[in-house]
Amino acid sequence: MTLLSEIKTIAVIGAGQMGSGIAQVAAQAGFQVILCDNRLEGLTKAVQGIEKSLTKLFEKGKIEEHPPAILGRIKKAVQLNDIANANFVIEAVNENENLKKEIFSQLDKILPANTIFASNTSSLPITRIATTTQRSSKFIGMHFMNPVPIMNLVEIIRGHATSEETYLITKQLAEKMQKVTVCSQDYPGFIINRILMPMINEAFYTLMEGIATAEDIDAGMKLGTNQPMGPLTLADFIGLDTCYAIMKVLHDGLGDSKYRPCPLLKKYVDAGYFGKKTGQGVYKY
Ligand code: CAA
Repeated sequence: MTLLSEIKTIAVIGAGQMGSGIAQVAAQAGFQVILCDNRLEGLTKAVQGIEKSLTKLFEKGKIEEHPPAILGRIKKAVQLNDIANANFVIEAVNENENLKKEIFSQLDKILPANTIFASNTSSLPITRIATTTQRSSKFIGMHFMNPVPIMNLVEIIRGHATSEETYLITKQLAEKMQKVTVCSQDYPGFIINRILMPMINEAFYTLMEGIATAEDIDAGMKLGTNQPMGPLTLADFIGLDTCYAIMKVLHDGLGDSKYRPCPLLKKYVDAGYFGKKTGQGVYKY
């Protein structure tokens, strides 16, 4: 039996936007964190971003501990072998199923059999990724929302073989990171993206069909339904490539034509307009 108190060190694989946010909230919660990425410059950039975010939160009085103390709990690693002493692993690499499977199959040989593996996937099947390990009962989805330090939710996804014990400890861990959890069974898109992405996709249809300008679609939804940002702005913020990939997962996995990705969304992705991260999406940044 693993207890929350036995978890001292959390390894986060992937130092992109999501991975660095997860490393930050784990360190804020008092855990030792190993942030692992094979790109050294990516790690350096991630730590700089965490420092900036912590400073902002500290200046606003949202955290009490001094940023250098929190940062001191985050170690960088470039090889998976360097995380061998972690008690809990959260993977947050690109949404590429083969890459995730490859990483988990390697980790399965490196980490003790009782270490829980969590994937931050936003839509790929937990049950299928888990089969690349010998620990399907200790495998779970832990889907953080972007920006991780600000958003209160973690969506927990139970794979077909995930044990009750694994679910409970993951929930406790997320709560220790000051997050509220919801639990989803393992079906395409889980809860959040099953509902969010069709709305974003519909906003692209509304734009493609010339019903309204991007600005009016966003202002309408923002002011008319009290959302913090309109659906097209949110899509740029999430990444149009990610939105398109999730729509494909919904369409393939559920087989219903109502999930077909909007051709305009695909056209933007084909053009390399991935949103805020590339400087151009629906809007220019
Ligand atoms: N670290 C620290 N502080 C941060 C931060 C970070 N990484 N990012 C934002 N902030 C702070 C800002 O400093 C600001 O603080 P104050 O209000 O105290 O000044 C606050 O957050 C709000 O930021 P901004 O004023 O810059 O901008 P905003 O009011 O538009 O808020 C936002 C930004 C919080 C992102 C807000 O627009 C929002 O909630 N947007 C929707 C986000 C969302 O829906 N995320 C989920 C996406 S779906 C997903 O992630 C799942 C998936 O699989 C695709």
